[in-house]
Amino acid sequence: MKQEVGQVPLSGPFLDEREEELVLEVMRSGRLSLGPMIDRFEEAFAAYVGAPYAAAVSSGTAGLHLLCISAGIQPGDEVITSPYSFASSANCFIYEGGVPVFADIDPHTLNMDPDAVRAAITPKTKAIVPVDIYGYPCELDEIRAIADEHGLAVIEDSCEALGARYKGEQLGTHGPPAVFAFYANKQMTTGEGGIVTTHSEEEWRLLRSLRNQGRGDAGGWLEHVRLGFNYRLSDIAAAIGFGQVEKLDEILPRRARVAQAYNELLAGIDGVELPLADDADHERSWFVYVVGLPDNATRERVISTFERERVGYNRYLPSIHLQPYMRERYGFREGMFPVSEDLSSRTLALPFFTGLERDAQERVAEVLRTALA
Ligand SMILES: Cc1ncc(COP(=O)(O)O)c(C=O)c1O
Repeated sequence: MKQEVGQVPLSGPFLDEREEELVLEVMRSGRLSLGPMIDRFEEAFAAYVGAPYAAAVSSGTAGLHLLCISAGIQPGDEVITSPYSFASSANCFIYEGGVPVFADIDPHTLNMDPDAVRAAITPKTKAIVPVDIYGYPCELDEIRAIADEHGLAVIEDSCEALGARYKGEQLGTHGPPAVFAFYANKQMTTGEGGIVTTHSEEEWRLLRSLRNQGRGDAGGWLEHVRLGFNYRLSDIAAAIGFGQVEKLDEILPRRARVAQAYNELLAGIDGVELPLADDADHERSWFVYVVGLPDNATRERVISTFERERVGYNRYLPSIHLQPYMRERYGFREGMFPVSEDLSSRTLALPFFTGLERDAQERVAEVLRTALA
């Protein structure tokens, strides 16, 4: 990856000749879409995660949207999700006329607090979209128990959490369908892309039809058995994905080492809250490295120092309910989800990617220390 001297980028992909070779193989085959590489990629991904079925799609958002259709979300149905997430966690059901209901988060895990989920349920609730934010597994068993009690669907937004483990097992294996995303800042990338894992063959077949303009298994190219979408992943993207799956056993431990190095470098800096450590039930897969700062003014001060020093950053993550379109459409206001809002105002993503070198991390730590001094 090209970068200026002294600059530390926020993120970057981890690719080599293997992906190039696989992309060339697809280009030379002439099968650029709906070719054999999609099946190879899906099979390899499903095997890696330990899920019976996987359907590749054009983005994480597309995967979440298709699961909302599969769950039968209809106009007016309420769906509960986390306010401290990326907009797609809510957009996916709004596309189907679903109404967003947010459940505030736990200040430590940054994931939905199951008590808040329980409190948000009404007779109109149809589904829950728990998010494994920053790769830290959500309270899946408690959320599933609430869903079972009320007859609700669970759609797990694991877009940031490939390789994370809940109670010892990888996300995607626990039962609810889950979605993983492959934008270039994710643990693995296909440029753009996503994949849905499911335990139901019937759901898998439905997803494959929905992503392919509603075509059926048996009919021809111009027969559409349902309202579908073009949410296909190209075979070129799938080739990159196949190469990335092959190296996940290298990528994920490397990212964990980069995170561990930050933990050590930042441990002594006053005013920096480090990401929550794993426990017996939750093993994070490192997507981003996000620290908590004392308040918004401090964060802005740090950001101006980062800009001056050409250190990458992002204000991860704004609360979804306070986005302009959310305020306008649904009347959400400040104060509704105080834990999420507080964290949104003072959390900051530092440069983080698989190939980040120790000396660059030392520089980030030093710039952060200076900014906070
Ligand atoms: C939590 C979460 N959900 C959904 C998505 C959507 O994924 P995509 O950008 O591939 O549509 C992302 C991606 O950034 C995400 O972080």
